[in-house]
Order: sequence, then C-alpha cells, then structure tokens
Amino acid sequence: MTIRKNKKESIVNHPTANIMMLDKIQSLLQEVENLTANSAEEIEQLRIKYLSKKGAITALMADFRNVPVEQKKEIGIKINELKDKAQEKINALRDAFAVQETDANHLDITRTAYPIGLGTRHPLTIVKNEIIDIFSRLGFSLAEGPEVEDDWHVFSSMNFADDHPARDMQDTFFVESHPDIILRTHTSSVQARVMEKQQPPVRVICPGRVYRNEAISARAHCFFHQVEGLYVDEKVSFTDLKQVLLLFAKEMFGEDTQIRLRPSYFPFTEPSAEMDVSCTLCKGKGCNMCKGSGWLEILGCGMVHPNVLEANGIDSTKYKGYAFGMGIERITNLKYQVKDLRLFSENDVRFLKEFEAAN
Ligand code: PHE
Repeated sequence: MTIRKNKKESIVNHPTANIMMLDKIQSLLQEVENLTANSAEEIEQLRIKYLSKKGAITALMADFRNVPVEQKKEIGIKINELKDKAQEKINALRDAFAVQETDANHLDITRTAYPIGLGTRHPLTIVKNEIIDIFSRLGFSLAEGPEVEDDWHVFSSMNFADDHPARDMQDTFFVESHPDIILRTHTSSVQARVMEKQQPPVRVICPGRVYRNEAISARAHCFFHQVEGLYVDEKVSFTDLKQVLLLFAKEMFGEDTQIRLRPSYFPFTEPSAEMDVSCTLCKGKGCNMCKGSGWLEILGCGMVHPNVLEANGIDSTKYKGYAFGMGIERITNLKYQVKDLRLFSENDVRFLKEFEAAN
C-alpha cells in the first residue's frame, strides 16, 4: 500500500505556515509515539507512511524550504527530532517482532501433544538390576568403586605377583605418565576396597564397568560390565558357593536351569572354577548357540585365596570366603540372544526399544 501525500493538507504558502507546521510536527510526533504493529508487513506500511520518499515526514521536509530563515533553526531541529523518533519507533517495532518470530520458529506446532514417549532402560541396566535384586534377596549388599584404579587394588592385593603372567591375561590400559594408575580390568578391585575397610562378615556384590585392551568386534569390546560377588565369614565352604550360584542361575534363566562347575585357574581364588548353565535356548539338547554342547559358560568363581585375605587385612586362619564374577553383557546375550556386543554402546533407539517389555 502506498500512502499518497494529501495535496490539500499542504501547508506551503499558508500565511500562518509556521504555526501550522509546528502543530503538524507535534501531532505527527504523538502519532509516531503511539504506533503499534502486528506483523512485519504492518511495520513496513508504517515506514512507508512516515519515512519513505512519499511519506508524511519527507513531505514536511519539502515544506521546510518555505520556512522563513529566522525560524528555520527551531523548526529544523523539531523535524529532525520527529524523523529520529519515527525511525527509532519503527526499529523498536521491528526488534520486538523479530524476537516474536524466532520464538515462533522454535515452536513445532506439528508435534503431537500427548502422550509424551517415555524412554526405556538400557538392556544392561535391566539385567544388572535383576542380578542385584537376586543377590540382595540373599543378603548381599552393593559396593561400588573407582574405574580409574591403582595397581594395588586391581592386581597386587588380588595375589597377582609382580611378574605373574596372569597380569597379561587381562590386557590392561595403563596411564602413560603414571604406570601405577590403570583402568580397572575387573571389579575385584572393589572387593579389595571393601575388605581393607571392613572385617567379616563381608557379603557384597560389585557391579561396574571394566576395561580391557581388546580390538572391538561383535564378540569383544574395550569395555564391558561385570558383577562380582564376595562372601567372607567363618566356616564358608565351596558348597555354599555352589548353592548360591545354582539359586542365581535358576532365578536368572528359569527353574529348570542346571549348572556345572569346571576346574579353572585365577590367582585370587583356590580352588577356582568356571560355571556353565544348561543352554537357555535348547535346554541342554545341543544347538547353534551352545555349539552343540548343551552348556553355556557364564562366570568364574572359587574360594578366596588366603593371600588375598591377608593382603587385605583379614585373618585367613579364622576366615574363609568365596568369590564369583560375571559379565553382564554375556548374561544379557544369553537371555535376549543379542549377537553383537557393539549394539550395547551404539545408542540405536530401535535396538533399545526392543527391551521395552522387559523394563
Ligand atoms: N575377576 C575375574 C575376572 O574378571 C572374575 C572372577 C571373580 C573369577 C571372582 C573368580 C572369582 O575375570
């Protein structure tokens, strides 16, 4: 829209031109101060009405030519003031409108209002919580410790001799400038931290993330999660260990689950064993998952080595203990048939959503 200057309103050559001009400036000033606009387009129309070549203020400037010299200064200042005011006002309207516009841009009016989708727990968290729940019903309490550890808590207090080849069994991440500081390779370090502070009876489970320097593939990762357990008291025997693990296996994989223990070696337990459960898929008949054997390995365990008790300030002639450790990824794979370890840390919501029902 263009606003034409109304010729009839021209005050040029009028005998009281100057008075009229002052009135005109005054009324325009008031108009300008009260300007409002609801859109960018309206603001532009106001600019045209007042400040464009054909605008009201520009017209005043044209009339200014006829103002007698002695009044030029007074009227000139007033016109300039009006012009500045009008420009200021239009700028202010533009600014206010720009803010409103960007607010509107952030508002996605196509978004569904309800229901707001809830996230799901990570499968490893689901399984970790289930393991914690089973052992807490057996009287185990929870202990946690640092992921960046010292050599003592990860290895030395766990009966790894300085030159013990077992230190190489777990490829360790070392901190280059501090060879004594490492990323823990198992949560046994938390057990050491509990024992150094607490005399038996000790009954704890230690869940947490651990690190090993492995190439990342479907079957190995440079970090994974463990739950380790420790029970130290007078008269603790291997039978106690076996019974607790049988109960755990049945709770975790179903009432008909069977276990078997195979002799093994760990520096921190003697005797040591590895435990298998009857295959969760074929129930022991033999299938692809258990490679035809009917059994799946799930954890390491054993009686706490007397050296470990002594290193942590516990009298090994008075107390005995058992310990076990399992990988949460491994248990989750067996429970939910996840074939590729990498899925756990890729944060693909489609994968995570599959566990909605287990939440
Ligand atoms: N710490 C062992 C590991 O990380 C697991 C384990 C714990 C084995 C306790 C036996 C007893 O592999």
